[in-house]
Amino acid sequence: MSDLAHFDVAGKRVFLRCDLNVPLKDGVIKDDGRIKASLPTIQALLKNGASLIIAAHLGRPKGEAKPELSLAPVAKRLGELLGKEIIFPGAVVGDIVSSAAAALKPGQILLLENIRFSGAETSKEESERAEFAEELAKLADAYVGDGFGAVHRKHASVFDLPKLLPHVAGTLVAAEVEVLKRLTQNPERPYGVVLGGAKVSDKLGVIENLLGKVDVLAIGGGMVFTFLKAQDKEIGTSLVENEMLDVVRGLIESAKKNGVKLILPTDIVVAPSFSADATPTLVSADAIPADQMGLDIGPESAEAFAIEIEKCKTVFWNGPMGVFEFANFAAGTKTVASALTKVSGTSVVGGGDSAAAVRALGFADSEFGYISTGGGASLEYLEGKELPGLHALGL
Ligand code: 3PG
Repeated sequence: MSDLAHFDVAGKRVFLRCDLNVPLKDGVIKDDGRIKASLPTIQALLKNGASLIIAAHLGRPKGEAKPELSLAPVAKRLGELLGKEIIFPGAVVGDIVSSAAAALKPGQILLLENIRFSGAETSKEESERAEFAEELAKLADAYVGDGFGAVHRKHASVFDLPKLLPHVAGTLVAAEVEVLKRLTQNPERPYGVVLGGAKVSDKLGVIENLLGKVDVLAIGGGMVFTFLKAQDKEIGTSLVENEMLDVVRGLIESAKKNGVKLILPTDIVVAPSFSADATPTLVSADAIPADQMGLDIGPESAEAFAIEIEKCKTVFWNGPMGVFEFANFAAGTKTVASALTKVSGTSVVGGGDSAAAVRALGFADSEFGYISTGGGASLEYLEGKELPGLHALGL
């Protein structure tokens, strides 16, 4: 299989798809992890004599040019990290982009505006995507796919474009796939997975698939209340997906049948409202008051999760345990993150949110075995689905 090191790019214009979908607040980048993770491939391509046309998305503008989702702040940060000018024409396609791409010299970088400003990028119509991909293909001589976080999307720049140009995976995509293979092909045991986040429905596929594969499954975050309610517990005003209750009962049964140790929180930090200054109270998971909502797992639960995690030789974690953005409800996520740093085998933090959470809580990337840049992408991989962006790259 060809890899980036053997891909001839000298003097060529390379179309590089990255995932630069970073969290922004008032135009300020809150976590530049995905930009940093894209640097090795960019640097390797420049070193080998390419010029680059980089494409990426930001948020979900749905085909509209939304100024707050412009990649301009990303262009600035990328330029700072590389110590290089980034040519940013402020458009996705059109004459301004074509002439800027044609004028590129080896070593230069052109960053296209948010590729999702063009509705054809995400279109369900194959012909619309194909036409857009043809237009993008004219800008370059070769394609490198390195936007791991978007490889589960059947989008023009991820799936259709590589078919039109000589292509290869970038080093980030190659590294992510390598790690995910370690989680799916004969993982070292015990194998534990910790899942958090708001909705069971978002994680259903992965939970179903993992129940046949893991030894331990710990559940925290907002979705835990659907599990608690499925066991007929009072959950107060906590988040719940009532339509998932039967499904969750099935998952609990299936865990039992498969001999999977399913760990749910036994204590919960509750508050009267969803706000940073709401007064936190610690209660038993069996006794959530009717007028309170759960915003974090409690210390006893976090400790129980930590003990199980530290015993494992392979651990995958996706989704915060509570509302970590509010200091009063961050302790559960912090304890779980800390336990992951102590795993002696493979520990993987999956997903943009979880990665941003560990950095916001003061952990360094180097404390974990691997921090994946892909949330949905790594979950779909673990679900056993074929990912369009990987398929297109022959992976
Ligand atoms: C992500 O943030 O997980 C990726 O950038 C993909 O974004 P999407 O869910 O909007 O396709």
